[in-house]
Amino acid sequence: MKSPVQGQGVSLVMAAATIKFLYRLALTLSMLLTSAAGIVSDTTLVNNVSNITDGETVVSVGGSFTLGFFAPTGAPTKRYLGIWFTASPEAVCWVANRDRPLNDTSGVLVIGSARGLLLLDGSGQTAWSSNTTAATAVTQFLESGNLVVREQSSGSILWQSFDHPSNTLLAGMRLGKNPQTGDEWPLTSWRAPNDPSPGDYRLVLDTKGLPAIVSWQGKVKTYTTGPWIGPRFSGIPEIASYSGMFSVQVVVRPDEVAYMVTAMPGAPFSRLVVNDDGTVERLAWEPVSRVWNVWLQSPRDLCDSYAKCGAFGLCNSATASTQFCSCIDGFSPASPSQWSMRETSGGCRRHTPLECINGTTTDGFMVLGGVKLPDTDNTTVDMSATLEQCRARCLANCSCVAYAAADIRGRDGGSGCVMWTDGIVDVRYVDKGQDLYVRLSKSEFATGKRRDVARIVVPVTVSLLALTSAAMYLVWICRHRGQRRNNDVQTNAMIGSLSAPNDLGDDDFDLPFVSFGDIVSATNNFSENNMLGQGGFGKVYKGMLDDNKEVAIKRLGKGSRQGAEEFRNEVLLIAKLQHRNLVRLLGYCIHGDEKLLVYEYLPNKSLDSFIFGMFRLNCI
Ligand SMILES: *[C@@H]1O[C@H](CO)[C@@H](O)[C@H](O)[C@H]1NC(C)=O
Ligand SMILES: *[C@@H]1O[C@H](CO)[C@@H](O)[C@H](O)[C@H]1NC(C)=O
Ligand SMILES: *[C@@H]1O[C@H](CO)[C@@H](O)[C@H](O)[C@H]1NC(C)=O
Ligand SMILES: *[C@@H]1O[C@H](CO)[C@@H](O)[C@H](O)[C@H]1NC(C)=O
Repeated sequence: MKSPVQGQGVSLVMAAATIKFLYRLALTLSMLLTSAAGIVSDTTLVNNVSNITDGETVVSVGGSFTLGFFAPTGAPTKRYLGIWFTASPEAVCWVANRDRPLNDTSGVLVIGSARGLLLLDGSGQTAWSSNTTAATAVTQFLESGNLVVREQSSGSILWQSFDHPSNTLLAGMRLGKNPQTGDEWPLTSWRAPNDPSPGDYRLVLDTKGLPAIVSWQGKVKTYTTGPWIGPRFSGIPEIASYSGMFSVQVVVRPDEVAYMVTAMPGAPFSRLVVNDDGTVERLAWEPVSRVWNVWLQSPRDLCDSYAKCGAFGLCNSATASTQFCSCIDGFSPASPSQWSMRETSGGCRRHTPLECINGTTTDGFMVLGGVKLPDTDNTTVDMSATLEQCRARCLANCSCVAYAAADIRGRDGGSGCVMWTDGIVDVRYVDKGQDLYVRLSKSEFATGKRRDVARIVVPVTVSLLALTSAAMYLVWICRHRGQRRNNDVQTNAMIGSLSAPNDLGDDDFDLPFVSFGDIVSATNNFSENNMLGQGGFGKVYKGMLDDNKEVAIKRLGKGSRQGAEEFRNEVLLIAKLQHRNLVRLLGYCIHGDEKLLVYEYLPNKSLDSFIFGMFRLNCI
């Protein structure tokens, strides 16, 4: 098996040693350097001849890790063979004989060339073994904390501790599986802080749908990171904060699907641990004050409990006053009485049935922005599709209830396609959350229904976010002096940052789509003569629509990174925010990569009003 750690600089120094042990080590070292120089130059090892007895320890060449016998705090009579951080001996990273502690200090790790590693108790019984057989093998203890048994002649790895994790994932280790052989690399919690035997919690990489790290308590899923969406897991925005220190990857190959963290030069020591109570922590060592700092803790809050709000439920940790669970728009609690008792796992039911027969449908999609994507276990994934193709495919398949980009990177809202066919679960609002497109009946989008507009969630658009948020805030202040209302618990990523989350206003509106053809004829094909001016966002033309209505048409610069869906939502938002001192927005148009806004034309308004109109507010 090819190992990610192969070829890494390696060595071993010894501590707590007798002269005899030192001598044996030197002997071994020289043997290795001559016999195995071709395989692993600059390498020392635990060796072919020496045994390690309780009381002796072996330290990796850079001093980071120590191999030896230990007793957990509070259980002094139980002896285990393990590997720990030298600087912090209570940080045990790996344990050999998890199920079979030795009762005294007579244990010995026998390092035989033909038998790999063998842990014997005082009576010669095997407490643990690496189960390897080879004519000649060498054992190495690497600076990464990996204990490796190699076949001497070929150098191939017969066994390594990194393939048999305990409760800790170190930099360079994999969490995942080999789909071809069925080999798995899960983490298993200790049973208790002083008991390394396998406990209740297992952390695995779920490879159905998109890869996701899942915590299991027995057969119950308790937590997931959310699917891997390109640069990170959907529910772990923290990963973005590691840039420059750790490279976090999910490798997907026929023979390996694995999550792996690589430390960059200068990064602190870090470990991912699944604790005996099921919490998962990323800890980093602070060498000056000599403490482990918690960089990430999961579950983070109530909303991280797996499927907390049931199918089509939506968890928001910021809504303590109205309970944390709500239903996705277009749905309401399946059992209101249970829901009111905080039994939310029953989830939500659709208000209006979908209308879809053999792919012919009148349904539409609502964008739910800023969320951790639902569990992708039973989804169809196509990494090569575009988001537009994804939408079309989902629409054409009557059993598709939602879709999203499988990779958030790239233009127009990301790429790839993940489609859900059964109930979507484990959705929550999260920092830097993603857009989920939820299929709803046509009637849910009908105009005149307040919530349809208010609940169309506005995706966060990088370019305009700051301006729009500021504008919204001003509008909100203007409008709500004296008529403050707060009647909807659902928030979204952007609106959620304001103090009155969803009270976007009460007037209904219907913003018409204007066809590109009409715009071309209205502006004489964007004739220079019609141009009123030019601003940072694009050019503004005067035009005449069919009904002899004079309009100003703003043609947004091409190459805008904004996707059509985002644009549409943003326009809806702007329209919703119309203010009497603003030039009125009459319609919009999307055509290929053309995006246009149609304003009323007021001859005595300054050009700026058209160009920057949507953000210029006079709050009198
Ligand atoms: C290592 O331990 C085994 C089992 O106790 C013993 O048979 C062997 O002689 C030991 N080897 C050395 C080099 O001490
Ligand atoms: C060694 O092999 C035996 C039998 O194949 C198995 O029961 C045992 O779990 C293995 N031990 C280790 C440490 O893999
Ligand atoms: C996936 O399908 C299986 C079998 O129908 C079901 O037990 C499981 O709950 C589904 N998973 C999700 C996340 O919906
Ligand atoms: C709809 O999607 C489901 C699940 O991915 C798939 O099994 C089914 O074949 C699709 N139906 C059509 C008509 O494509």
